[in-house]
Amino acid sequence: MGKFITFEGIDGAGKSTHIAFVADYIKQRGVELVSSREPGGTPLGEKLREIVLHETMDLETEALLVFASRREHLAQVIEPALKRGAWVISDRFTDSTFAYQGGGRGMSLAKLEALEQWVHPALQPDLTLLFDVPLEVARARLDATRDLDKFEQEKADFFAATRTEYLRRAAQFPQRFRVIDSTQSIAAIQQQIAAILDACF
Ligand code: TMP
Repeated sequence: MGKFITFEGIDGAGKSTHIAFVADYIKQRGVELVSSREPGGTPLGEKLREIVLHETMDLETEALLVFASRREHLAQVIEPALKRGAWVISDRFTDSTFAYQGGGRGMSLAKLEALEQWVHPALQPDLTLLFDVPLEVARARLDATRDLDKFEQEKADFFAATRTEYLRRAAQFPQRFRVIDSTQSIAAIQQQIAAILDACF
């Protein structure tokens, strides 16, 4: 079995900057790597992503669509790759649903747990890197971006609740979560990530 690594954080936390670094770091070890994202990661998942990021909808519809995208992602990409020994990195996974639909939008965590049990009863990431920043820092980064999607246009209290739920999950699952202070310099963060990855090989 390969390893499954996920990247999490509120919009503007800066995780994207570090995904390429992690991909290169793993490939340098001669391991087959699959780099993917959610919502998305498959042709159907990418169509669902467009809908989830741009259409207004009922909260539970939104949760069902991200889990539908995830089921397809697991079946088509993640599970086959892990089985053949490849490593998989995913820009977001189920912790995003707990943080955004659960924390941010207030959906029942019990319902999300039921969906998680249905869609991936046994599989969890081996490692989850949570990029954490104060809300003002995230907001300033987003304000420098054009064409904000539906989530990026949310207000401060939405992101405060999203961040709180992320940190609650990190405390609940300390064996797989590593919380990274994303206000540090890129070099300092990369050094920290390299040390975390070294422990995985
Ligand atoms: P990204 O721009 O970081 O790729 O994330 C896409 C957006 O989708 C981001 O604002 C978070 C949101 N999202 C959810 O609300 N629930 C989910 O389960 C996932 C995977 C993403």
